[in-house]
Amino acid sequence: MNLGTRKELKQEIRKGAVLVNGTPVKDPGLSVDGTEEILWKGKPVRFTAYEYYLLNKPAGVISASEDPKQTTVLDLLGPDRRRDLFPVGRLDKDTVGLLLISNDGELAHRLLSPKKHVDKTYYARVAGRVTDEDVAAFREGFDVDDSLHSLPARLEILSVTGAPADSSYVTDSAASTASAPAVVSEVKVTIREGKFHQIKRMFSARGMEVLYLKRLSMGPLTLDPDLPEGSFRPLTEGELEALRSSGD
Ligand code: URA
Repeated sequence: MNLGTRKELKQEIRKGAVLVNGTPVKDPGLSVDGTEEILWKGKPVRFTAYEYYLLNKPAGVISASEDPKQTTVLDLLGPDRRRDLFPVGRLDKDTVGLLLISNDGELAHRLLSPKKHVDKTYYARVAGRVTDEDVAAFREGFDVDDSLHSLPARLEILSVTGAPADSSYVTDSAASTASAPAVVSEVKVTIREGKFHQIKRMFSARGMEVLYLKRLSMGPLTLDPDLPEGSFRPLTEGELEALRSSGD
C-alpha cells in the first residue's frame, strides 16, 4: 500500500510498527484475510488493489506521471499518493477538465483502446465563426492533416459572438500574444478517438484556433460541477460500476 519496500516493511514489522486487532505483530509472515483492523504506526491500513480518482485538471500541469521540472497531474494528488497511479489518457497542458487517474491498467486499456471508441466530450471556445459546414464536416469525418482522417464526431454550436470586451477567455501561449479575435464561437464537441492535439488539429484544419478547451466527459464519467479545478475525489461506486460495464 505504498508504505515502503518489502525489506523496509519487514524490518519495521519486526520493530513492532504493526498492530493487528490491537495486538502488536512482529512476524512479517503472518497471514491476514482483510477482515482485521490493521494499524501501521498508529494509522489504519486497508488493502485495495485499485484506486480511481476523478481530477478536474487545471491549466499549466502536464498529464504525465513524473517530470523533473513541471508539475504533473499526479503531483496534484499529494505526496502520500500511491506510486503506481497514472493518468488514464492525456490532456494538453493548457486543457482543463475531467481526467481519470488510476492504477488499473486493464480498465485504462479498455477506455483508451482505439477499437473501443469511448466518447469524449469537450467544451471549446474557438477563434472564428463555426458554421453548419463545420458541423457537417465533423459529422462526416474529414482529412485533418497528413496523418489524421477524423472519425465522425459531433459538433454542436452553443454561441457565436463578438470577442468579449475583457478578453477573459483563456488563451494558450500562441494565442495569448495574438490580438483578440473578432468572433468567438462556443461549441461542444464529442470525439470517439483521442489522437494527439485532436480537437485543436480538427479546428486548425477548418481555419480556426482553439482558445480554451475543457473536457466534460469520458465514457460514462462526467465532470463533477462541485469539483474545483485542481481538485480530485475518488470515483463513487456508481461511477466505477458504470465504467466497468461500459464498452462490454
Ligand atoms: N484535443 C486536444 O487538442 N487537446 C486535448 O487536450 C484534448 C483533446
